[in-house]
Amino acid sequence: MLSSLFSKSYPNAVARRCADDEATRLRHKYSPYYHTFEKQQGSRVWKDGREMVMLASNDYLGLSSHPKVVEAARKALDVWGSSPTGARLSNGSRAYHVELEERMAAFLGKEACHIHAAGYLSCMSAIQPFAQKDDLILADKNCHSSLWAGIGLTQARVERFAHNNPRDLKEILSFEKDTTPKLVVFEGVYSMEGHVAPIPEILAVTQDRNCFHVMDDAHGFGVMGPGGRGTAAHFGVVDQVDLLCGSFSKSLSSVGGFVAGSNDAIEYLRTHSKQTIFSASLPPAQAAAALAALDVLQTEPEHLERLWANTRRYKKLLEDLRLDTWGSETPAMPVVLGSKERVYAFWQRLLEKNVFTVMSIAPAVPPGKDLIRSAASAAHTDADFDMIADAFAYAVKKM
Ligand SMILES: Cc1ncc(COP(=O)(O)O)c(C=O)c1O
Repeated sequence: MLSSLFSKSYPNAVARRCADDEATRLRHKYSPYYHTFEKQQGSRVWKDGREMVMLASNDYLGLSSHPKVVEAARKALDVWGSSPTGARLSNGSRAYHVELEERMAAFLGKEACHIHAAGYLSCMSAIQPFAQKDDLILADKNCHSSLWAGIGLTQARVERFAHNNPRDLKEILSFEKDTTPKLVVFEGVYSMEGHVAPIPEILAVTQDRNCFHVMDDAHGFGVMGPGGRGTAAHFGVVDQVDLLCGSFSKSLSSVGGFVAGSNDAIEYLRTHSKQTIFSASLPPAQAAAALAALDVLQTEPEHLERLWANTRRYKKLLEDLRLDTWGSETPAMPVVLGSKERVYAFWQRLLEKNVFTVMSIAPAVPPGKDLIRSAASAAHTDADFDMIADAFAYAVKKM
């Protein structure tokens, strides 16, 4: 009977699901994602010999080709080889893990830090071990997938509060007992919207309500606050946010991620986090690149200054064209166009003019908020901005 359900090319239901998937068919038809570039240099990428301005990366400080960062990664390969060869619990930490954790903790103003091989793992790790059955997790509804993945591994009850809306959070909390342990989960900077979290207001409504605060600052770290210390530092509330997590793949031009907090919290994470215990640690070249980028951030302030100058320039360029940037206050800059058809056409026009961006359409964004996702970088030059201005003017004219 079963064999008659599946032809020879579909040996089972899951194989058939993969082969017949409509979303994959559409992705291949319109091919907006997974482009392959044969070369990358500074703010430029090359596809089929065509040189383009990259406006979709998160290389905020433009350090991925900084000579000190590249040299540090190369040296680490010579000294340590390519791999950490396993997970730290069983296979041991390496000196570069400990050094990067100490430097990150000191930079962020926390007692301790633990690093992982991906920011995604760090964000999961900042939640999964900390929430138990009968706890309550209160999460901003626009939180990143990595935070939801961490939440999904807990048995805690979950309530979503309206995006960046402390009043809604307060209302939800008003129905809850103070004795219930609670995690409040939010981001410092929301990369899809470019919004900054109203952290002081979130802290005010959760004060004395038995809340442990977890903030993902993947897009605020290295960008916001004094010297790039992040969004909590921007508001002067680092000591009130229990855990800061984030990524090395944005402003530090590497890969990997971190969770920073009190000694107790980080040691607890090392005991209970599955993402830490059962996954290989950050490799030497990536740790060395992140450490060198952290040095550059602290010794060469011009990169952060240029990032913000470029952000202001880019935002003005978009606003002069009467494009909707969803109130972005940060280098993460959406261009809201409102329907997938408009976004697709706009994205293609930009591509025709050699400017590479990425489309975000519902359900990844709320209905009617379909948008072009883009980000300013310190690496963008005057020549890049000439191309960006020309491409956007062209796309607007064709709209
Ligand atoms: C808000 C946020 N958190 C976490 C991550 C995961 O970081 P990584 O790419 O280093 O795994 C990302 C990456 O896109 C992100 O945007």
